[in-house]
Amino acid sequence: CIDIGKLPKETGCFTYDPGFGATASCKSAITYIDGGAGVLLYRGYPIEQLAAHSSFLEVAYLLMHGELPSPGEFTRFENRITHHTMMHEAFKSFLGGFRHDAHPMAMLVGMLGSMASFYHNTLDLDDPEQRRLAAVRLIAKVPTIAAACYRHSIGWPLRYPRNNIEYVERFLHMMFEVPSEPLVLKPVAARALDLLFILHADHEQNASTSTVRLVGSTGANPYACVAAGVAALWGPAHGGANEAVLKMLAEIGDAKNVQSAVDKAKDRESGFRLMGFGHRVYKNFDPRAKIIREMTHQVLAELGVNDPLLEVALRLEEAALKDEYFVQRKLYPNVDFYSGIIYKALGIPTEMFTVMFAIARTAGWVAHWLEQQEDPEARIGRPRQVYTGYAARDYAAIDKR
Ligand code: ACO
Repeated sequence: CIDIGKLPKETGCFTYDPGFGATASCKSAITYIDGGAGVLLYRGYPIEQLAAHSSFLEVAYLLMHGELPSPGEFTRFENRITHHTMMHEAFKSFLGGFRHDAHPMAMLVGMLGSMASFYHNTLDLDDPEQRRLAAVRLIAKVPTIAAACYRHSIGWPLRYPRNNIEYVERFLHMMFEVPSEPLVLKPVAARALDLLFILHADHEQNASTSTVRLVGSTGANPYACVAAGVAALWGPAHGGANEAVLKMLAEIGDAKNVQSAVDKAKDRESGFRLMGFGHRVYKNFDPRAKIIREMTHQVLAELGVNDPLLEVALRLEEAALKDEYFVQRKLYPNVDFYSGIIYKALGIPTEMFTVMFAIARTAGWVAHWLEQQEDPEARIGRPRQVYTGYAARDYAAIDKR
């Protein structure tokens, strides 16, 4: 608790908590994490059960509505999502303004932000149905936009969403189908991606979700809130870690270089960290990493991919887990340690990895935004600071300095 010294009495006192390690910014009934025990629940359902039995779209419904859907509710939700997968044609000229070599996350931030300009006058934030429509539009359109960003970057014509196939398949189709070729995607790819999307769908008040809520607390347009979430996700300390992991594994290159990478990560002076290791909340194995680890072997085997980076990843995990530095600090592989290897096996380019994360996390972001809009206790997010600057002093004219 900070002694606020000479500030006016009514300011009271406040906590200094850099990085908000011990500050709850809201109440939420969406996701529960027990970081010590390695437990993750969406609306009370263990992530392991959802990963084994559910689908991404069903999880999106669960996050948004609080309950698993009945068959009728699910069909209506799926139809509604499918109805909103198309982009306004004017998005194309907007997208065309980006350099072909722009990072897809940069394009995604811009494209989602632009949705605020497309849907501003059809959105009444006081109307629960209008709010849900905004959430549905976001879940429906983000894969279309993500695939469009990718195709723009490689100079391919955009693909319109095929609405007679399922959500994840539809995304893969938009990403990969070459105009003249039939669809050659294997079902294992769609299943693996669906599972990754389930695992990434929500994670309570992480940096990007907190950003969505902070922007949402001002009453801003929901598309702008989610664009802000995408920007927060991009950094390598958060969702950008999946891209950084793959780059790191490629740099290590061979199992014989693993120990020197571990040693370098222990040396604070080096400024190097093992990407995909550590987590603010998990001080035990990240339950999502456990599931992905198992899935990686299975997916690579089914796709017939023999990726030497998997061997590097396994050796790195082994070396770090028996190293005193990592053990003492409880630094375990997190969700992003293995996801990049799967994305790579599916043929998704490295720069698109964090975009994949963003597609999945959109379900969580909109669920949190909806919850916040309905929360009678919610008010504008406005953290305080501990001022370390000068006391009041007099202005000096420029010729007197
Ligand atoms: N490699 C080496 N050392 C590490 C690592 C790492 N990956 N992560 C943390 N440490 C060390 C720190 O140097 C620090 O050591 P110290 O106690 O001697 O000072 C200690 O562990 C605690 O680290 P903090 O940075 O204080 O932990 P914080 O909770 O603030 O950060 C974070 C968590 C950002 C995830 C961090 O572990 C990290 O940078 N990891 C690598 C990036 C990454 O994988 N991010 C993805 C997270 S998951 C997600 O967002 C989807």
